[in-house]
Amino acid sequence: MAEILEASKESIEYAASILKSGGLVAFPTETVYGLGASAFDTKAVARVFKVKNRPSFDPFIVHISDPLDIEPLCTTISNKAYKLIEKFWPGPLTLVLPKSDKIPDIVTAGNKTLAVRMPSHPIALELIRQTGLPIAAPSANPFSRLSPTTAVHVESQIGSEIDLIINGGSCSIGVESTVIELNEEVTLLRPGGITIEEIEDVIGHVNSSFSSAKPHSPGQLLHHYSPNTRLEIIKDKNFIIPKGLKAGLLSFRGSPDQFHFNNVEVLSESGDLYQAASNLFSALHRLDVAALDIIYAETVPEKGIGMAIMDRLKKAEHKI
Ligand code: TXA
Ligand code: MG
Repeated sequence: MAEILEASKESIEYAASILKSGGLVAFPTETVYGLGASAFDTKAVARVFKVKNRPSFDPFIVHISDPLDIEPLCTTISNKAYKLIEKFWPGPLTLVLPKSDKIPDIVTAGNKTLAVRMPSHPIALELIRQTGLPIAAPSANPFSRLSPTTAVHVESQIGSEIDLIINGGSCSIGVESTVIELNEEVTLLRPGGITIEEIEDVIGHVNSSFSSAKPHSPGQLLHHYSPNTRLEIIKDKNFIIPKGLKAGLLSFRGSPDQFHFNNVEVLSESGDLYQAASNLFSALHRLDVAALDIIYAETVPEKGIGMAIMDRLKKAEHKI
């Protein structure tokens, strides 16, 4: 089992030394926990694919600790890209741009573009800074499973296969970064922690391609972010739980009918979508270990960060 160390000056130094020598370290970011490897070390990156059981066509996001560190990694950085960097970095926004030769092809799964982000979490930033390397880091969960927002989620899902977990408590945003591709067009590939409304305020119209059945970005595969337990989004307010089923409820604000369910998780009693996002994966992890037959999920308003929440719920509902 990987050691879990509380974040401290010493543990971050130790984690950086592991990354520099080709090891795998899980660390907190403001969105979800990442599973880091040196982006320059093809063996380490190959091991991340294996640990996550991730298909080889699904590329990784490279994490940096200074906005200027993007310059050697990407060949063309448009004015719109610079505007987004200035406004949202450090933070939960990933930019997909033409890649330079510095990054090995395995990181981008052969794509000519590279996804880059500078996280805002102080532990992530300090760790990346100390390695002096770009760090490839997918979410620290097995492919298609629930994303981890605590060190314990990481430990229980992949703890036996990695070298170290740095514990930095719960992730504040709780859903992954927004992924935007910039070429002649600007396209939203994954809704996330920065809302589309915020992005359009800075650079104008953004196309959306994140819910297509034929994915433009590999991570758009329809079945994703799934609990082991079956999940269904409640479409009809008057639905009845089938007799004999042990059912859980993922409620947005709490529900007058919640006594019908074996287990209930409320995302935000006050209806705050940011609070709901930050509780989403933890609530799903708890429902998933409650030995239920089915989890019913209420919808949330599909605006602002609610778009990212509904994207994750729809993908969790989708059967392979
Ligand atoms: O918040 C986050 O972004 C977290 C934390 C750890 O930073 N990371 C994360 O990584 O969510 P991952 O690997 O679970 O998701 C990366 C997403 C996938 O949907 C992948 O297909 C997409 O980014 N992606 C990566 N490189 C791409 C590229 N070159 N072109 C299009 N999509 C890309
Ligand atoms: Mg992921």
